[in-house]
Amino acid sequence: MAKMEKPILTVDEAAKRRRSIRKFLNEPVPREELDEILRVTGLAPSSYNTQPWRFVVVADPEVKRKLAEAAYNQRQVLSAPAVIVLYTDMADALAAVDEIIPPGMDAEGRTRLRSLILSSYSSLNEADRETAGAGQGYIALGYLMLVAEAHGYQTSPMLGFEPDAVKKLLGLPAHVRIPALVAIGKGAEEGFPHHRHPLSRITRYV
Ligand SMILES: Cc1cc2nc3c(=O)[nH]c(=O)nc-3n(C[C@H](O)[C@H](O)[C@H](O)COP(=O)(O)O)c2cc1C
Repeated sequence: MAKMEKPILTVDEAAKRRRSIRKFLNEPVPREELDEILRVTGLAPSSYNTQPWRFVVVADPEVKRKLAEAAYNQRQVLSAPAVIVLYTDMADALAAVDEIIPPGMDAEGRTRLRSLILSSYSSLNEADRETAGAGQGYIALGYLMLVAEAHGYQTSPMLGFEPDAVKKLLGLPAHVRIPALVAIGKGAEEGFPHHRHPLSRITRYV
């Protein structure tokens, strides 16, 4: 049977439609859909193209139950068919700096860019370096929620969890940061209507 083409929303449509969803249908998200959502999320920009974001997709019910415990038993962790642990690892990104240099660059350019990237971050201590990585991770978080919505899936971002417990559960190194857990699936509720500042409260033109 031919696969049905599903609509992909525009960025504007996805931003207007997205809400935090805390109750999901009991339907798994197919692996190829998750791969595509994460591939497009990875198009997010980052400083020097460091791309320090990493994803652990938790769908195993037992691991998800333990993840829920580490997230104050928030109902969306148990309800969603999958929860994406979005973490950032600047140490890993910088240790493999050659991976992030454009392939077409000549040897001299590569050497220059490699030392520029490494020297930019070597002035920071490990904590500040990882904090800078987490900042990039939030760009990926924004992309992830919009891309998922555009592909017909709903999400719920969460900061309400114990990072050390999540790291222990998933065997992540102590230095990494976890910008958010993101529950993902087909929503079973509408979510709350957007309640946002008027533009005049948050913007000025000079
Ligand atoms: C980084 C981040 C962390 C959040 N953490 C939680 C959380 O732990 N639990 C929760 O129920 N909602 C959490 N939220 C959802 C916010 O409450 C929600 O985005 C906000 O109220 C706006 O509502 P909307 O997402 O439906 O537009 C989080 C959102 C973000 C972006």
